[in-house]
Amino acid sequence: MINTEEDWKTTDLNVDSLWLIDKRDSSGKHENNYHGNFIPQIPNQLIRRYTNRGDTVLELFTGSGTTLYECEKLNRNYIGFDINSEMINYINQKMTDTQNIHYLINECDVTDTDKINALMNQSFKWCETQSVDFLIAHPPYMDIVKFTEKKEDLSNISDLDLFIEKFTLSMKNGLQYLAKNKYFAVVIGDVYKKSEVVPLGFYVMNAIKQNFKVKMKGIIVKNIEGNRGKLGSQGIWKYRAMNSDYYLFKHEYIFVFKKEF
Ligand SMILES: C[S@@+](CC[C@H](N)C(=O)[O-])C[C@H]1O[C@@H](n2cnc3c(N)ncnc32)[C@H](O)[C@@H]1O
Repeated sequence: MINTEEDWKTTDLNVDSLWLIDKRDSSGKHENNYHGNFIPQIPNQLIRRYTNRGDTVLELFTGSGTTLYECEKLNRNYIGFDINSEMINYINQKMTDTQNIHYLINECDVTDTDKINALMNQSFKWCETQSVDFLIAHPPYMDIVKFTEKKEDLSNISDLDLFIEKFTLSMKNGLQYLAKNKYFAVVIGDVYKKSEVVPLGFYVMNAIKQNFKVKMKGIIVKNIEGNRGKLGSQGIWKYRAMNSDYYLFKHEYIFVFKKEF
């Protein structure tokens, strides 16, 4: 067992490959005011399953800090990067009272290898570690939700091949700091483009399998209640789906891998 702190008989860790989360955890620092943010239960489950107290989590697309707040709750140290400086300021304000963990968040383009390397060196000094124990990445789903105007922002990429190239580079930059035999997770959804489904999740999964020596440990499908899903498949959305010939996306993927290099 990877986590030595959870008792398999009593834990609420979800070991099914289908996660139907009906209600978003809105306790503590979680505010749900950033479009496309995590349901906090996702990082919570992953952190508890794949790390122990005192371990360090690295996040490549920090966003509004959902994973960091869970790390704080669970006593895990945290290093995170996001290109959106507004979010870095927002999170820093929310973390002024923190005492129990080391954390460092940086405004950084995760495709910028030199900058990542410099910031990781600083972060390791601060977090008193030489490698991270878990990596999590929740990138934009191509250009479906635009986050910033910056050209390096992955949410400004509408071309699939370029998106996969930049995403893969981001993962390369982050994965070198994950210790061997540790785990990482990518959370991603599919998209519609030009009247057809682009299975972005499958492309992302394939890119990881092809570019890195990893073992695939889980393909979890989760529902998306509490986001677009709360609009439901009733009324106007049902009409639009039938009339315009598409299905309403409810699912997203959580891909879990074990790093073997
Ligand atoms: C889906 S959101 C992550 C949301 C996060 N999980 C949360 O709970 O708030 C994707 C994030 O990736 C960031 N991003 C996009 N391109 C980036 C890049 N090149 N480097 C770093 N961050 C980037 C965006 O600013 C956005 O905050």
